[in-house]
Amino acid sequence: MRYFLTALVLLLVVVVSLVGWRGSKSTKPPLEVFPDMDRQYKLRPQAGNGFFASGSSSQAYVAGTIPRGAPYRDVPVNTGRLAGTTNFVQTIPVPVDEPLLRRGRQRYQIYCTPCHGAVGDGRGIVTQYGLVAVASFHEPRLVKMPAGEIFHTITKGKNLMGAYGAAIDIPDRWAVVAYLRALQRSRLAVEEDLPESERAALSVN
Ligand code: HEC
Repeated sequence: MRYFLTALVLLLVVVVSLVGWRGSKSTKPPLEVFPDMDRQYKLRPQAGNGFFASGSSSQAYVAGTIPRGAPYRDVPVNTGRLAGTTNFVQTIPVPVDEPLLRRGRQRYQIYCTPCHGAVGDGRGIVTQYGLVAVASFHEPRLVKMPAGEIFHTITKGKNLMGAYGAAIDIPDRWAVVAYLRALQRSRLAVEEDLPESERAALSVN
């Protein structure tokens, strides 16, 4: 009986403290055990805001922003194909310069090296863990492959290879294609590529 009374009093205290003050008014903020995301550092649309020079929280679109659902332009840079056809473009449709190759190497080393290997021979690290049939870029078929088709393979993937279109944007995809061409070229150099003056130094006996 003694315990029952103690338990009853405790229960009363708990019940009253939990629900007893419902409806009573207080000017103090409520005790929050789990605040969840009731208060956030966020900007409300159309509200004034001192952070931006314009004094508004809503900002104009960045120049060149394309609205979702905007008409997709069927041009070689976007598709890797000649406009209105299914034929792949042979060459890279953007200017190829050193910054592009450097960017391509950097992207290639992130996205392609694990499978295709740093030199593009298809012997990346994953081949030691079960993925065996990775293409080598030095196969004659891939050396002759139109640039647009390589671009398309990066965009959509091919057989065992997944699509990288979502991860690598269009300019970067062309940069990767350019670097891939450089890798292929690295194994196809001939004596005539050297200036005449330097060929003598090359002679091997
Ligand atoms: C997860 C592993 C993996 C990654 C990462 C990967 N590939 Fe591949 N790739 C493959 C495999 C496997 C094949 C062979 C596909 C087949 O024909 O079965 C292949 C084939 C290819 C081919 C030849 C397609 C053809 O028509 O035969 C090209 C070109 C290619 N990859 C380019 C790339 C480029 C560029 C990247 C980086 C953006 C890349 N791959 C990243 C696994 C990968």
